[in-house]
Amino acid sequence: MSRFFLFLSAATVISFVCASLEKSDSWNLGHMKSLVTFGDSYTDIERLSYLINHNGSLPPIGWVQPQTSPASDGGRSWPEYVSQYTGCNLYDYAVAGAVCSNNITPKYFDAIHRNMPTVLEYEVPTYLTESKLITNGTEFLDIPASETVYSIWIGTNDLGEYALLTDSQVPGTNMVDFVDCVYNSLDGVYNNGGRYFVIMNIGPLQLSPEFGFPWNGAVGENHYWPDKPSNITQIAFRMWESVVMVNDDFKYRTPFEVLISKRYAGANFAVMDTYGLISDMWHNPSAYLNGTAPLNVTGFETYCPANQTCTIQNADSYLWYDEVHPSEQAFRKVAEEFVRVVQGTSVWATYWG
Ligand SMILES: *[C@@H]1O[C@H](CO)[C@@H](O)[C@H](O)[C@H]1NC(C)=O
Ligand SMILES: *[C@@H]1O[C@H](CO)[C@@H](O)[C@H](O)[C@H]1NC(C)=O
Ligand SMILES: *[C@@H]1O[C@H](CO)[C@@H](O)[C@H](O)[C@H]1NC(C)=O
Ligand SMILES: *[C@@H]1O[C@H](CO)[C@@H](O)[C@H](O)[C@H]1NC(C)=O
Ligand SMILES: *[C@@H]1O[C@H](CO)[C@@H](O)[C@H](O)[C@H]1NC(C)=O
Ligand SMILES: *[C@@H]1O[C@H](CO)[C@@H](O)[C@H](O)[C@H]1NC(C)=O
Repeated sequence: MSRFFLFLSAATVISFVCASLEKSDSWNLGHMKSLVTFGDSYTDIERLSYLINHNGSLPPIGWVQPQTSPASDGGRSWPEYVSQYTGCNLYDYAVAGAVCSNNITPKYFDAIHRNMPTVLEYEVPTYLTESKLITNGTEFLDIPASETVYSIWIGTNDLGEYALLTDSQVPGTNMVDFVDCVYNSLDGVYNNGGRYFVIMNIGPLQLSPEFGFPWNGAVGENHYWPDKPSNITQIAFRMWESVVMVNDDFKYRTPFEVLISKRYAGANFAVMDTYGLISDMWHNPSAYLNGTAPLNVTGFETYCPANQTCTIQNADSYLWYDEVHPSEQAFRKVAEEFVRVVQGTSVWATYWG
């Protein structure tokens, strides 16, 4: 009896291990022809630069996004790497500085004389308009439902300074309204025919120089947050709490919306654990970073002592590009993992459909 039981347990363990290496049954994407991305500076290629260079005017509908300025990591952004690695078309609607909604955490930006464009009120509506656009006799977006993946990676600004972290939100709104906004944004894409979604959870901001602990190299007042309060320990604890709560909300709410509410019938979802992935980079840098200088996960590439000109050296040795942005090498690794996510084989994703 007990031998039989042991045999069963071993078989169960083996089949579990094998299953975890197989393609997920809940994610039946064949080929990714196109990737459509929504988000903030982690994902933006050129949209905020356009706004700044055009005195706050939005890019015209049908804008073909050039790839000229450096992205927030000082190089190319992760979606460009996904496009390079897979050959997919890339339609990137992210705007650096974006939040999910102006109804929750509007952020006025002097350089563009307006609130930052948001996912709900700008990025998704622009995608919807361009999805109907015909240019030069062809559809502007090549987005067959069965071969197009939609990703959303938002929250760093929403949970950050001059927003939820400093209690600066629109009165009466809170963190749950932010999470609602993510699903409300995806509703628009789903109703337009989107069927493959990747929700990227919020990175480990309590490990970043901006929102981290003093014993991990965190900074005080800086150009992003000139009046950062002096108790940075308290800031780090609060940010940590916010990030893990919101990520737990994504983790449990996504299967609820997909399987119980049937809010997205016929659609496939992956929740990509960028929190876990980037935390793993922090704890095991040599598995990800490949610069020739000593690997550095607490400092950042663009750190310059006051008034000194600094030249970036050994960028690939760093996890962080600046106070809040992961380095280009970190984003290459995010892109590599994203490719596994859409192949249905990532250990850093859960799949629901
Ligand atoms: C830029 O936009 C602002 C506000 O919309 C306006 O006041 C200003 O005159 C504009 N500047 C230029 C150079 O057009
Ligand atoms: C349409 O054609 C014009 C002229 O050939 C070209 O400049 C433009 O980039 C094309 N637009 C798109 C969206 O391909
Ligand atoms: C800063 O915040 C931490 C954590 O909330 C607290 O333990 C500590 O007493 C605070 N320090 C000061 C100087 O207020
Ligand atoms: C590090 O690896 C990336 C690929 O992930 C490669 O593009 C880059 O050139 C490498 N950097 C160095 C310094 O070898
Ligand atoms: C990491 O880089 C920072 C500069 O951003 C530097 O001050 C710090 O000493 C470095 N840490 C290690 C462990 O090399
Ligand atoms: C940096 O330069 C500014 C303007 O030139 C000056 O006011 C400031 O005192 C300098 N700071 C340091 C730390 O040298």
